[in-house]
Amino acid sequence: MANDRISTSITAEAAHQRAADLIAAVPSALAAFRCPLCNRDFGSYDALIAHYGAEHPTSVLPVTVTLDLNGKLCDLLIEPHWTLQRTLQFRLGLTGAKHMCDRGVCGSCTVIADGRPILACQVLAVELEDVKIQTVEGIAADPKWKPLIDAYCKWDAMQCGYCTPGFLVTAKALLDRNPHPSEQDCKEALAGNICICGTYPRHSQAILEAAMKIA
Ligand code: FES
Ligand code: FES
Repeated sequence: MANDRISTSITAEAAHQRAADLIAAVPSALAAFRCPLCNRDFGSYDALIAHYGAEHPTSVLPVTVTLDLNGKLCDLLIEPHWTLQRTLQFRLGLTGAKHMCDRGVCGSCTVIADGRPILACQVLAVELEDVKIQTVEGIAADPKWKPLIDAYCKWDAMQCGYCTPGFLVTAKALLDRNPHPSEQDCKEALAGNICICGTYPRHSQAILEAAMKIA
């Protein structure tokens, strides 16, 4: 039992540190404007546009977007049709918002936008300028939410873990708006999150325990 407690504590600490490192690694400014078609770097967006005109006249131009992500503003160069989930994963290395169904059904890609849980596979990154976005990495890096991570570890509310970030983000959004949820509140909040491993009962246990500690 003592060993179980030690390994749970190390896992939660490691998750916290890993999340903090990932957020620190998110660049705030573009170092260069790289052509995604031929990988040449340009010193300005105007130079990239000129390059497209000369070399790729029929291709869709990348666009610049500034996201407010986990409390940090970051400038990005992306394709205009990229979803937030794709942008997080492939531009920023933030893999917590999982790509699973890609059609708004499973909740694995959940992030928080201006306080509300949204599905990152269903929204374009370019639509989210001026929106405060929080990902599971931002939650894991915030000491306030350590009891939620600890409770998920303690109650073993995961098996393969693929769906777990989406559940955690939805749980955090629930506790933001309702610090003292009932079991029914937890079930209703998590109704849009699917777990093919069948861990459903453990999420409510974890959230209820975390709620007492956080409150
Ligand atoms: S991957 Fe977005 S809802 Fe399933
Ligand atoms: S723990 Fe495997 S999908 Fe949920």
